[in-house]
Amino acid sequence: MTRTNLAPNKAAITAIGSYVPDEVLTNQDLEQMVETNDEWIQSRTGIRERRIAKSPSHSTGYMAIKAAENLCAKNNIDPKTIDLVLVATITPDYQVSSTAPYVASQIGATNAFGYDISAACSGFLYGMTAAAAYITSGQYQRVLLIGADKMSSIVDYTDRATCIIFGDGAGAVLFEPSINTFGFESAQHGSNGIGRDYLNIHDGGSLHPINDTTFAEKRHLVQQEGRTVFKYAVKHMSEASQKVLTKHALSHEDINYVIAHQANKRILDATAHQLGIAKEKVLTNIEHYGNTTAATLPLVLSDFEKKFKTGDKLLFTAFGGGFTWGAAYLTWNYDYKK
Ligand code: UT7
Repeated sequence: MTRTNLAPNKAAITAIGSYVPDEVLTNQDLEQMVETNDEWIQSRTGIRERRIAKSPSHSTGYMAIKAAENLCAKNNIDPKTIDLVLVATITPDYQVSSTAPYVASQIGATNAFGYDISAACSGFLYGMTAAAAYITSGQYQRVLLIGADKMSSIVDYTDRATCIIFGDGAGAVLFEPSINTFGFESAQHGSNGIGRDYLNIHDGGSLHPINDTTFAEKRHLVQQEGRTVFKYAVKHMSEASQKVLTKHALSHEDINYVIAHQANKRILDATAHQLGIAKEKVLTNIEHYGNTTAATLPLVLSDFEKKFKTGDKLLFTAFGGGFTWGAAYLTWNYDYKK
């Protein structure tokens, strides 16, 4: 397989890795923590359990490193050949410095530079567009894109409206020039600043720096108006997806699989319904991991990698805080051989 420095037509995902913590937080565990029950959580979200990185040292950076190492080990990738490491996250190890340079150094990607992408649950999707652009411009040959979030570090475990949804995890993909006709085709993104009224961490930024009352009032933790976020999510994921399908003259029947942000099973079902796509084509692992924010898309890719065949048509879509959203169309580049 020969790769050249000429700008390729397409960028392709050529390798996948993942990491989730060992510790499981079940719906039954949550019943002991807040006023909720397994039946409500399963019927309203589709979630049965989520993974929680209990050890303080198992940060977002730690999980991102584990996912990247898993990718390199499985695919025999020499980290020194990686040009760029992108980490999509809203739970960086530190507010200053970015997590990506640390991840790059720790995995031995000594020739890479790195930076973080902050677009909440759309972070990995935006990162796909960025990674593909770096490759198709001819500037770089190997971009490692990681989605990682330790949501348990910013969740209020006394707030039943948020704590039942989120979990921790990380997934990584490698983008390289496509060696066949398949790869990243195009994306449609959108955003609307109204979103910060409905989903945010109120304190700790430049608008509301941490003060003495912040902790007592838990304003350093994530809060959301779930019902409003739900409606915006279905509307924008289905509209962005439809734009991508129209652009490529695709019907819903042409799509083999939908890889969508795992926020809520009902959001996935409603989006599939709007698009006329069979529910079975929407790949889900939300029942085991909950909403891992920037990690959901690569965790779905990792769990279902064996299913994908060269030429399969994949539709990606995500929605998150900001609000941010988008959809992308990618034709799969390889058959699983490991
Ligand atoms: O990743 C991107 C960002 N996040 C999302 O996309 C999340 C989008 N939103 C959602 O997934 C859903 O809105 C939630 C799962 C957060 C909530 O589900 P819902 O069906 O929208 O419930 P709701 O907020 O409308 O609440 C319905 C009822 C309320 O009781 P009343 O007022 O009808 O008596 C809530 O107090 O359910 C109650 N409720 C609960 N009951 C048991 C809310 N949370 C719980 C709970 N257990 N954990």
